[in-house]
Amino acid sequence: MADPQEVLAQRVSAAVTAAFGAGQAAADPLIRASQFADFQANVALPLAKSLGMPPRQVAEQIAAHLDVAGICDSVEISGPGFLNLALAADWIAGQASGLLADERLGAAPADRGVKVVVDYSGPNVAKELHVGHLRATAVGDAVVRILEFLGQTVIRAAHLGDWGTPFGMLIEHMLDVGEEAAHAELATGDFTAFYQAARAQFDAGEGFADRARRRVATLQAGDPESLRLWQVLVNASMEYLRMIYRRLDITLTDADMDPESFYNPMLAEVCAELEDAGIAVISDGALCAFPPGFTGRDGKPVPLMLRKSDGGYGYATTDAAAIRYRLIDLKAARLIYVVGSEQAQHLQMVFAVARQAGWLTYQASAEHAAIGLVTGKDGKRLKTRTGEQVKLITLIDEAVERARRVIADRYDDPAQRAQIAEAVGIGALKYGDLSVARESSYTFDYDRMLALTGNTGPYLQYATARIRSIFRRAALDPDAADGPIKVTESAERALALGLLGFGRSVQLAAQTAEPHLLAGFLFDTASAFTAFYEACPVLKAEDPGARQSRLALCALTLRVLVTGLGLLGVPVPERM
Ligand code: ARG
Repeated sequence: MADPQEVLAQRVSAAVTAAFGAGQAAADPLIRASQFADFQANVALPLAKSLGMPPRQVAEQIAAHLDVAGICDSVEISGPGFLNLALAADWIAGQASGLLADERLGAAPADRGVKVVVDYSGPNVAKELHVGHLRATAVGDAVVRILEFLGQTVIRAAHLGDWGTPFGMLIEHMLDVGEEAAHAELATGDFTAFYQAARAQFDAGEGFADRARRRVATLQAGDPESLRLWQVLVNASMEYLRMIYRRLDITLTDADMDPESFYNPMLAEVCAELEDAGIAVISDGALCAFPPGFTGRDGKPVPLMLRKSDGGYGYATTDAAAIRYRLIDLKAARLIYVVGSEQAQHLQMVFAVARQAGWLTYQASAEHAAIGLVTGKDGKRLKTRTGEQVKLITLIDEAVERARRVIADRYDDPAQRAQIAEAVGIGALKYGDLSVARESSYTFDYDRMLALTGNTGPYLQYATARIRSIFRRAALDPDAADGPIKVTESAERALALGLLGFGRSVQLAAQTAEPHLLAGFLFDTASAFTAFYEACPVLKAEDPGARQSRLALCALTLRVLVTGLGLLGVPVPERM
């Protein structure tokens, strides 16, 4: 086991048991990174309370029983009773050498085989994806990659919005412009104009609005011609989504689109089940659930509308059916909804109803991995100058174009230039979403995300390219680099110790569905590498042993960065 925190936790726990008996064995050793040593164990403080002893005395007893021979250089008691633990350089070096031979870089499989549904991206038919969707897509896809890396069974679900009242108006508009023309227009992703034109007609004339309303009714009744026309809209949107996902290297496929319409046959049954159980009741002609704990500003319970008074089903009905399907039919043990934070109440209500209905039991969990707002420089939701939703494809093209100007133009070969620009632009865009806590809002800023310094995609990509160039200059293959890693300089020590934390950061990111924890780790790693590279000559190291060790440290850093960026879904160009 390479993770120092885990190793120290086990040793301190054993010392607690040895000193105070098995009754105290469950106490969390509270290992934390420390300013004064590498780590500190804080367990003596809570333990002192339960034992009724002075904390320093508790700490002394733990220290007296602590066996960290070969692991720590020193154990000191400081302050009210903290145990400061300084690792031995040889131990760090030995563990780092071990990682070099470990395919998984210390990230042991976790909750292997557990089935997880990740609901993410959340696209809608005939609607433009916007930056919010981009963020939910990038974060969700990283979560999926991380869970799969740990050996879990992941079901991707994009919950494609392909059903509902707008489809009447969209189909009628499509008939007006002609099917083929409509398909061609939509497959480019130019939905906004199409949607707005349909909307304008709907608002303008009674004739069109009537047609649209009739169309919804026939569509929902299963009329074959209406379904065929609807399918044209769905197909065109799918073409666009496939193009976007491919370009962004998102792992969603057609089979993962999990459309809302898939649940249509289940909706009546779900409503009946909830009504029979007394969880849903008729209120003003509509069928609503009022899960406890959700009240509006007026103090009245908030309804989750399952069937409108006209008999139609909506977004909430589909989500109720989806959660039942995922828990009961798919038997998933963990549901992660990577969805905008503005839908928090809706999702919490869906979860609450699922609990009331007995679908969601203690054996499973449902989480809203909330996504915060992406704002413009004015602090408001990102918009174009004319106040429209910014098109995703425009953002991608612009990021790639800027990456070409800033970075890739140094390369003469046009193919290479294009390849690097694409990887850097898209990497910057995705990493921008992945490097901040997913729930906090952030300001969209090309200059910042494309910067070569700071916690950015290009900075991390550049660190990998730099390491590759060291190996190219030495005509060596980084995959063949061989230890042992030795740790003498403090910059070597810091880098090697940092690398040992890879597994922990992947695990933490998986548990919390927070890819930024992994991103932050990678940034720390790249920074530690930069400091190491400035302080320690690699190819010019005088001692051959030091040269070999430093090359091995470079190779290990490269593998950690490339593996980590791969888990985030950030492309890594070979050169930069
Ligand atoms: N299509 C929805 C939207 O654009 C997001 C879907 C989220 N997933 C869910 N199960 N409700 O807002």
